[in-house]
Amino acid sequence: MRFEPLGQKMFTRRNWLLRCSILINVAVILYIGSQLMIGGGNNFSNGGGFLLQEQQVGSASSAAQLQQQQQQQQQPSAKNQNQVVEIFESEEKQLVNANAADPPAAAAQVADGAAGAPQLANDSGAGAAAMGDPAQVIGNIGAGGVAVGGNAEVNNSQSDGGYIVTGDEKELEERVRSLINCFDHDYHQQTLQRGDFWVLQNYVRAEHGDIKCHESITYTTHADYTFLDNLVPLLERWNAPVSIAMHAPGTDFQPTLDSIRYLRECLPGSHLVRAYTTFHIYFGTKHIPKSVPKPHEVFKTGYNCTLPPPYFNVSSGHLYKAQKKLLYPVNVGRNIARDAALTHFILASDIELYPNPGLVKKFLEMIARNEQYLRRKAPRVFPLAIFEVEENSPVPHDKTELQEFLRTGKAIPFHKRVCASCHGVPKSKEWMSANETDELSVFHIGKRTGYYVHWEPIYIGTHADPHYDERLSWEGKSDKMPQGYALCVMDYEFHILDNAFLVHKPGIKVLKKDNRRAMLSGKTNQLIRKIIYPELKIMYGMRKGCAI
Ligand SMILES: *[C@@H]1O[C@H](CO)[C@@H](O)[C@H](O)[C@H]1NC(C)=O
Ligand SMILES: *[C@@H]1O[C@H](CO)[C@@H](O)[C@H](O)[C@H]1NC(C)=O
Ligand SMILES: *[C@@H]1O[C@H](CO)[C@@H](O)[C@H](O)[C@H]1NC(C)=O
Ligand SMILES: *[C@@H]1O[C@H](CO)[C@@H](O)[C@H](O)[C@H]1NC(C)=O
Ligand SMILES: *[C@@H]1O[C@H](CO)[C@@H](O)[C@H](O)[C@H]1NC(C)=O
Repeated sequence: MRFEPLGQKMFTRRNWLLRCSILINVAVILYIGSQLMIGGGNNFSNGGGFLLQEQQVGSASSAAQLQQQQQQQQQPSAKNQNQVVEIFESEEKQLVNANAADPPAAAAQVADGAAGAPQLANDSGAGAAAMGDPAQVIGNIGAGGVAVGGNAEVNNSQSDGGYIVTGDEKELEERVRSLINCFDHDYHQQTLQRGDFWVLQNYVRAEHGDIKCHESITYTTHADYTFLDNLVPLLERWNAPVSIAMHAPGTDFQPTLDSIRYLRECLPGSHLVRAYTTFHIYFGTKHIPKSVPKPHEVFKTGYNCTLPPPYFNVSSGHLYKAQKKLLYPVNVGRNIARDAALTHFILASDIELYPNPGLVKKFLEMIARNEQYLRRKAPRVFPLAIFEVEENSPVPHDKTELQEFLRTGKAIPFHKRVCASCHGVPKSKEWMSANETDELSVFHIGKRTGYYVHWEPIYIGTHADPHYDERLSWEGKSDKMPQGYALCVMDYEFHILDNAFLVHKPGIKVLKKDNRRAMLSGKTNQLIRKIIYPELKIMYGMRKGCAI
């Protein structure tokens, strides 16, 4: 045994630190290398020839991440919320540093984030996107820079053991049933409590009767009655079950019932409403209506169809919600509608978003074909591309028509003028230029990381997906962020569909100044950072590249 002199001891320690840092550097380089390999079309991880779109780590941001990791290691048990906030803030600072190439834009981005717009992590060129067209970035974002156009990424005709769809509905149904292994839900009318809300579940039921879980897809959504003008245009395209949760507190209850009566009785499309739409009604326990008829009494009195629709030309200031300054509990509605859906697959959407016709059948046919990408182990959802068209414009019916609209500028990607990054879809440029095909397939498998770390996709999913956080309101924004984070941590894959899309009710949204919403979204961000995010980290865990 040999005693080292003090100086030598210090020298060894420094030496040891040096080795450590070299090791860490090597690890980082290896990690970057592996990321590039995945992006470079090396399909060892999937066998299907997909580009798994992962977070692209530039050296600047990886250094920042490293530093951040070290900070987190120094505060290993961030149980104290202040510490969590500190970490969050240091992340923001690094965001600015990493964006050094363009500090004003980055700073604006952070400021924006505080005011409610999601923050962009600059893992993959978000700085440029913040200033303009997301498509410019998406074109070269595929880690490794491989931007493959068209369907080359997913070869549809290559379905080993593939099922040939004969058009025989029964066979298709059987095939889907055996593949998804779902269970049927009950269809009872029930009065329930959900947190601070009363819920009239299945209050007005669709006449399709009991539907088996494998038979269709349910479009689940939420609204107050002023949005019900969207229902028939939606049903004309969807032609399948719709489960809708109506927020109807206080004096909004009666016009809500009248609107449902009107929709079921007075329109050329009323047969669609009766056949497919199930209405649930909910309101806060402090805002119950004066009287609530039993479900079987709702249609005892018909609606006088010569009167205008009850939802016609109602200003939002007229709503009970506005008079009482209530917030719109968007996620309570989303969850009610979703939980009551009878089918395995659900499209949780906003009622103003209309899908392209024929989607349900084509989607189930895709499930029945069970191609390789559907046999991947990771959980998945199927996002739809979203567009908006000018006021008074018709809504495109298929992708070919949509492309024509895009070419002539009559359609644009959704929220391009409000919050491009919230709805920027991986490979959207390639998606838009790829021609329509007969079948529905998966165009690209993406992840909610990198530029898309704050992506709020609308997708076909199932009851197994995490719920929406009911503490968040529509006014406070960021209402889908906690769910998005959970999906990311659970390593969900986003199987973007090739010929499926949503179009917003005609009229292009522009950014409007709304001081109340700005204030509320600031509060929401606080809530998310201080309370919800630490909770999610405990409940779902953490994963590199995931953020809220
Ligand atoms: C961050 O954004 C800037 C500005 O667009 C870009 O030049 C830089 O490469 C980005 N950094 C990383 C690590 O992606
Ligand atoms: C797809 O696969 C089929 C059958 O293996 C092949 O004939 C065809 O050329 C492939 N198409 C593309 C675009 O790779
Ligand atoms: C329906 O409303 C119209 C217009 O207000 C009115 O003229 C008519 O008498 C009403 N019909 C019934 C049966 O109440
Ligand atoms: C809608 O309501 C406003 C005021 O509430 C009224 O001035 C306007 O004429 C109405 N529009 C139609 C088409 O009835
Ligand atoms: C897409 O369709 C257009 C019009 O039908 C056609 O001219 C073009 O060649 C097609 N592109 C590809 C890649 O098939």
